Amino acid sequence: MKALTVIDHPLIQHCLTRLRDKRTDPESFRRGLGEVAALMVYEATRSFETRSVPVATPLARTRGFRLRREVILVPVLRAGLGMLNSILQLMPHARVGFIGLKRHERSLQASSYHKSLPENLSAFEVILIDPMLATGGSAVAALDLLLEHRARRVRLVSLVAAPEGIRRVQRRHPAVPIFTAAIDERLNERGFILPGLGDAGDRLFGV
Ligand code: PRP
Repeated sequence: MKALTVIDHPLIQHCLTRLRDKRTDPESFRRGLGEVAALMVYEATRSFETRSVPVATPLARTRGFRLRREVILVPVLRAGLGMLNSILQLMPHARVGFIGLKRHERSLQASSYHKSLPENLSAFEVILIDPMLATGGSAVAALDLLLEHRARRVRLVSLVAAPEGIRRVQRRHPAVPIFTAAIDERLNERGFILPGLGDAGDRLFGV
């Protein structure tokens, strides 16, 4: 699997542009983020392994496929929540874990305030979801935590990524594939992605 995939599907790019637009209100932002998340995860799960199983249709016996492993979705609070429900609609069988991280406004250090994860993630396909990959501090902290819980197969799905964040994740977790819809130009002095889409958490929840 490629270490970094930029998903340039026209529907995703159309949706991302609406999310970037500062005139998009929280209601439309929530809807748009959900739509784009579902499209992204479709691509991010393309290499999931399946196993062949027998199935009886109303007319005949044949063989079909089932996912080989259980899936767990792990949104990073808060903004990852905006991607969760639409992905769950595609994968209603998935479990859901949570990691709460807050980036300090000045130091830009991510600190953890919540986690809810199974002790042993080794048998799962883990999808870590966070719309923004800026300095990469939050993603690295979340991935460190997932590894402490023995995760072996993790994908990171981030709508918009800065080159700095990608480099940081790839240095610390080279085996984790990153899926994004855009690699933006850079971070500004406050650690926001440029051009980005602003603060995803604030835009989602209006606070
Ligand atoms: C934002 C964003 C990411 C993180 C990215 O969350 O949603 O989780 O910052 O920044 P980084 O790559 O530099 O760590 P924030 O900490 O503002 O929390 P929020 O989602 O609750 O607003």
